Amino acid sequence: MPASAISFQHKGASLQREVSRSMSFSTSPNDTFHGRRLSTNNSAEGTSPSLRRTGTQGTPKQLKPFREQDIKILLLENVNQTGRDILTGQGYQVEALKSSLPEDQLIEKIKDVHVLGIRSKTKLTARVLEAAKNLIVVGCFCIGTNQVDLKYAAQHGICVFNSPFSNSRSVAELIICEIISLARQITDRSNEMHRGTWNKVSAKCWEIRGKTLGIIGYGHIGSQLSVLAESMGMDVIYYDVLNLMAMGTSRQVPTLKALLERADFVSCHVPELPETMNMIGAEELDSMKTGAYLINASRGSVVDIPALIHASRTGKIGGAALDVYPSEPAGNGDYFTNDLGPWAEDLRSLKNIILTPHIGGSTEEAQSAIGIEVADALVRYVNEGVTTGAVNMPEVTLRSLTMDEPNHARVVFIHQNVPGVLRRVNEILGDHNVDKQMSDSRGDVAYLMADISNVKEKDIAELYRELEGLKDKIVTRILY
Ligand SMILES: NC(=O)c1ccc[n+]([C@@H]2O[C@H](COP(=O)([O-])OP(=O)(O)OC[C@H]3O[C@@H](n4cnc5c(N)ncnc54)[C@H](O)[C@@H]3O)[C@@H](O)[C@H]2O)c1
Repeated sequence: MPASAISFQHKGASLQREVSRSMSFSTSPNDTFHGRRLSTNNSAEGTSPSLRRTGTQGTPKQLKPFREQDIKILLLENVNQTGRDILTGQGYQVEALKSSLPEDQLIEKIKDVHVLGIRSKTKLTARVLEAAKNLIVVGCFCIGTNQVDLKYAAQHGICVFNSPFSNSRSVAELIICEIISLARQITDRSNEMHRGTWNKVSAKCWEIRGKTLGIIGYGHIGSQLSVLAESMGMDVIYYDVLNLMAMGTSRQVPTLKALLERADFVSCHVPELPETMNMIGAEELDSMKTGAYLINASRGSVVDIPALIHASRTGKIGGAALDVYPSEPAGNGDYFTNDLGPWAEDLRSLKNIILTPHIGGSTEEAQSAIGIEVADALVRYVNEGVTTGAVNMPEVTLRSLTMDEPNHARVVFIHQNVPGVLRRVNEILGDHNVDKQMSDSRGDVAYLMADISNVKEKDIAELYRELEGLKDKIVTRILY
């Protein structure tokens, strides 16, 4: 995707955005790209047989942290085996528990861990994080991160990663299933059969070949969907606030209205933002072709549900599929009632409406991909200090140090974002050659990474002591 910025009109407002930096990531990884850590030292014995055969020039060097000697990892909530394998393969001490822990037990358990892996049930409050004196990074092996006090974590130098895009393909495949199911009224026919009724009809049942799919939001999921839909013979148009390169023969349209007027199927794939709130309301439903279908697997706030119920009852739309709702139950059970929202029972009564409980991304493949993506991010952070993809820290990366750079060290200095810090840090680093350096800030926290050469092992303790002495320091790490 081009990293361009462009203005588009939506509901009269001019929105200017840049392609999210996360767009450069691949989605749904199915293998790790890290080498296995064979030894904690960098000697020839510690390298793989192939490295010993071919020499080590240019090979990325496996760094070891100066302070955190043996990395201790606690994984809660039955983190996928793919993630556990990557972390144990690095030689870290990994303890994996099947469930979450009550707050007091968690506080006791995480006192000395360096890395914590959780899913959505473990609440990392300021009280819990405060107890974790050695904690440098948290991996949320899930999409959401609202179970973590991200601000407190950042202010204490604890980096947090998640996996927002590993389930994109799973969502796109569900949408394809829904497009065909809506066009053939599959759920109505199936429900009738479950009630014992044989109702063979072909009226208002369609092939999808040659029909137009309109995708709103052409990001990770929207663009995957585009490819799948085209391969089934659909024409694809899309609307996005960014000017994005089309997949295959799909075409971008300049306004939401243009998309709604032309599409036989409209599928929403935008994030939850103030400007996407009720993005599909009465006016937009009215702009759609009579008998067209609406699909929403993005966020519940994107579609105005009462307006959709009205459009379904009047026959304006031919059907709809919803996977997300303005409010959703916290757990499984008989909760899809009007206690959830005044619309729930109306939705249940409509014809040709597919209702699913936020399962778009819920597949075994997505879980496995999440394990790989988050574990890879943790390894990169622990071994190299790279924060790419972090949700609460600035994104900072440097190319790897290599095996033919023996007297190099990497300095990571997380600090308060106040004037004068970089000057003081560089006075300390200045006794060595600073080969490369990058720093960035996010709110009141800044992250600096520098690779320095001509560093003897005995210098490292002194460097660490001097950096730790700076008053605006949050966390110092040296990797060598
Ligand atoms: N149902 C599920 O289980 C499930 C799973 C994963 C993601 N999601 C949801 O799907 C949605 C899309 O996810 P994604 O990973 O593709 O996101 P993404 O960030 O990759 O893509 C979103 C796209 O929407 C565009 N956009 C933003 N505001 C817009 C606007 N006002 N009008 C038009 N386009 C706009 C962005 O430019 C971007 O191209 C998100 O809301 C996410 O929460 C749901």
